Amino acid sequence: MQERQSHLHLVGIVGSLRSGSYTRMAVKIALRGAEAMGATTRLIDLRNYELPFCDGEHAQVEGYPDALRLRREVAAAQGVILGTPDYHGSFSGVLKNALDLMGFDEFGGKVVGLVGVSGGAMGTVNALNDLRKVGRSLHAWVVPQQAAVPQAGRHFDADGRLDDPDYEKRLQEVGREVARFAYLLTSKEMQAFLEIWENAMPNPGGEHR
Ligand SMILES: Cc1cc2nc3c(=O)[nH]c(=O)nc-3n(C[C@H](O)[C@H](O)[C@H](O)COP(=O)(O)O)c2cc1C
Repeated sequence: MQERQSHLHLVGIVGSLRSGSYTRMAVKIALRGAEAMGATTRLIDLRNYELPFCDGEHAQVEGYPDALRLRREVAAAQGVILGTPDYHGSFSGVLKNALDLMGFDEFGGKVVGLVGVSGGAMGTVNALNDLRKVGRSLHAWVVPQQAAVPQAGRHFDADGRLDDPDYEKRLQEVGREVARFAYLLTSKEMQAFLEIWENAMPNPGGEHR
């Protein structure tokens, strides 16, 4: 694979509405990892989207331009970083509602990476595992690499810089991995390879005796 893929586009969704959110900082760092691979990125800060609560009707968003914008922006990306705070041992309701307003059109077949922050020392393992299950239900490919910053207030400064290069590296690696696999799934070269693969004889070497 070439190191730089100019056509690749990723979005990062911030699952916290808090003004000084550490989740936002973590998502930004993960997106920087994707940018280092040549991807263009967009930060989707749910603070800037007026969304209804999902009522189960796909068409309910018609009266909500921000909900349509959210769908459009996610649909335009080949990969998605989901960022969440730990809220009572899982991911945030704000993020879940945003995901419930979307579906296979936005996520099906897409590569997704997960990052999280928490106030406590236990981290966001449960939140990210819960989010991983949701990703499966959205028919997304959730990459195995994930990153969590526990006790986030102790590690981030006000400008979003981390005091520990290991956290920085792990967050960036999530972005890099999403970019890498999004490229693998969507590049012309891989599409051509898959076509050959799918049209190949079941056993080109002949029957085994
Ligand atoms: C409703 C709520 C529930 C929380 N539950 C937990 C928790 O179970 N474990 C934990 O470590 N931190 C918990 N926290 C702390 C947040 O994870 C922490 O403040 C985090 O930085 C919030 O993310 P943000 O900075 O992106 O807003 C909770 C915070 C809120 C507001």
